[in-house]
Amino acid sequence: MAEAIPDLSVIPKTQAYTELQAHSEAILEGISDPIAVMSTMAALIHHAFGHLWTGFYRVIEPGALLRVGPYQGSLGCLEIPFGRGVCGTAAAEEKTVIVPDVGEFPGHITCDARSRSEIVIPVRGAQGDLIAVLDIDSERLGAFDQDDQRGLERLVSRFATPMQ
Ligand code: SME
Repeated sequence: MAEAIPDLSVIPKTQAYTELQAHSEAILEGISDPIAVMSTMAALIHHAFGHLWTGFYRVIEPGALLRVGPYQGSLGCLEIPFGRGVCGTAAAEEKTVIVPDVGEFPGHITCDARSRSEIVIPVRGAQGDLIAVLDIDSERLGAFDQDDQRGLERLVSRFATPMQ
């Protein structure tokens, strides 16, 4: 199956996420392997919106350590302790973190100097446990808002109910 990735950067965000959701569900129908799902979602989100970096950090030691998973973009940091940077903060607090200006986030981990803003979404598995975070970086200041939060939280809710 060859699927084109639509350009969603040119339409209103709420509509863009509705289309992204439908596209993701169609491509991933019947797939539960988390690596296959993470890889596909990272590619879809990244290219549909033209972000700088899009990918997953997986929980390796619950409450302690994240390790990089499937991603698109330049080289990501390999490991991030819970509580460090934006990813570690979202993992430790198990809540979405939106950073409009990474220069003003204490302890921000710079993997790519072009990053200006980011959003990190917790990803829960079927048992409700934290299995990963989804990290998206942009070259633009203030690129992410509540519409991104809603759209992305809905997208990753698939990991909690894998067989769809
Ligand atoms: N910016 C992240 C680190 C991961 S990279 O950007 C890929 C953070 O501070 O958590």
